[in-house]
Amino acid sequence: MASSTLICETQPWKDLKSHVEDIKKTHLRELLSDTDRCKSMVVDFDGITLDYSRQRATPGTMDKLYNLAEGAHLKEKIDRMFNGEHINSTENRSVLHVALRAPRDAVMQSDGKNVVPDVWNVLDKIKDFSEMVRNGSWVGATGKALTDVISVGIGGSFLGPLFVHTALQADPEASKCARGRQLRFLANVDPIDVARNIAGLKPETTLVVVVSKTFTTAETMLNARTLRAWISKELGQSAVAKHMVAVSTNLALVEKFGIDPNNAFAFWDWVGGRYSVCSAVGVLPLSLQYGFTVVDKFLKGASSIDQHFYSAPFEKNLPVLLGMLSVWNVSFFGYPARAILPYSQALEKFAPHIQQVSMESNGKGVSIDGKPLPFETGEIDFGEPGAYGQRSFYQLIHQGRVIPCDFIGVMKSQQPVYLEGEVANNHDELMSNFFAQPDALAYGKTPEELQKENVPQHLVPHKTFSGNRPSLSLLLSSLDAYKIGQLLAIYEHRVAVQGFIWGINSFDQWGVELGKSLATQVRKQLHASRVKGEPVDGFNFSTTTMLSKFLKESSE
Ligand code: F6P
Repeated sequence: MASSTLICETQPWKDLKSHVEDIKKTHLRELLSDTDRCKSMVVDFDGITLDYSRQRATPGTMDKLYNLAEGAHLKEKIDRMFNGEHINSTENRSVLHVALRAPRDAVMQSDGKNVVPDVWNVLDKIKDFSEMVRNGSWVGATGKALTDVISVGIGGSFLGPLFVHTALQADPEASKCARGRQLRFLANVDPIDVARNIAGLKPETTLVVVVSKTFTTAETMLNARTLRAWISKELGQSAVAKHMVAVSTNLALVEKFGIDPNNAFAFWDWVGGRYSVCSAVGVLPLSLQYGFTVVDKFLKGASSIDQHFYSAPFEKNLPVLLGMLSVWNVSFFGYPARAILPYSQALEKFAPHIQQVSMESNGKGVSIDGKPLPFETGEIDFGEPGAYGQRSFYQLIHQGRVIPCDFIGVMKSQQPVYLEGEVANNHDELMSNFFAQPDALAYGKTPEELQKENVPQHLVPHKTFSGNRPSLSLLLSSLDAYKIGQLLAIYEHRVAVQGFIWGINSFDQWGVELGKSLATQVRKQLHASRVKGEPVDGFNFSTTTMLSKFLKESSE
């Protein structure tokens, strides 16, 4: 395929376009009765089982998807990513988050330089610093140990670390290491978020980690200044050196802000913000909370998937299979959304993180060469832990819109289970739902079945479930730091696979710029009106009216 040929112009795409019309004629009930087909759709790797037999696909579909992957040069694109080529062409950068969790002796090049030693220099520095803070040899300005950490950052400098923190919090081994410590995240510029973060904390026992790739993000910088004032007010300006550290690629701006460059933890422009949780962005706050040993296990889990993604044949390759099936659902069935449904409360922040990883990466309108795309890319990701979602939005996914679902279950609960008469135990109760929901979606319930149950005729249409709704299941052997790392990397690479097949740049995010620049114009106006009494000027009728009302009534 010449680089300017769109994937939708290729024969494998056209084959799938006609193949989907055949598949549409077959109900999942029928597909699930073919045991050989189902057997071929279960894949195991390193404590993770993927069952995709409830996708609206046959082995023939998979062959056609492999052809599509070949037509899209998927393997070459994966190799180019691992080889550090500038696949983020609009920003002229490598995409090497895999180097962040590579073993110490690995070699991964960006711009002719092996970046792995740099990665490990920062990891070693984090290990030393977090140990000093945790064992009390690094103390605050008044000599007290720093037991509490507020990590200030937004988007990729927040969502990944929050997901991992929430998952580790429920893990007994990790939480034992966090005893007596608190980790909080300040992301929103909303005064409410500031108040919630500092509630009950004292500056003298608090360490603030300012996390920003660019160190220019308006929300983060305002929050950092707010917390700098909170510390200085109580402990004096000189205390900032002991109570504030930074994570950034822009060390010059860190210094300008007033943070000692020795207390800055670097990362690099070849790490995208939403792919940065394995850099100091996540590793520093998480090591302060749980200790480096726990975080190292998380990195090793991610690394296990990186190696699998790089080397496993496509038929056994978890991120490749997941990515291809998402392309199948979005581009051929036209399903616009994907629900991420973990049956583990510890994964409650997983879907919010994947929302950014997926939607900021693949919500694009042009090909990597800048050609307008005649097909949609990306999907609307959302989700909640299993039992929560069931009592909330599952009605819509059972009888309303068709939304492919990812069910994520864990074999052994992180926490003690409670026995109770009716159900075996509360983890089994949770997992009963994990096993039941995919079949409910796939099989549905027919009017004939309802009639056999003597359901009154007028209720039959309301109680009928069409079924034929696709899902896939991921069953994890446990949920420890290692597994959390694996899960993260599977979803990161799945998003890349989708982008590689669609032929887009999944690693830039120009779509966030326009709103940011318009906010700058509003910010200037608010300042000019409040300070100099200038009238609202230069906006359309709607914004002028609303801004004027806001200015008048918010200052009354
Ligand atoms: O939402 C836009 C974005 O640029 C994300 O890509 C990024 O993760 C986030 O803002 C925060 O950026 P920074 O880490 O530079 O503060």
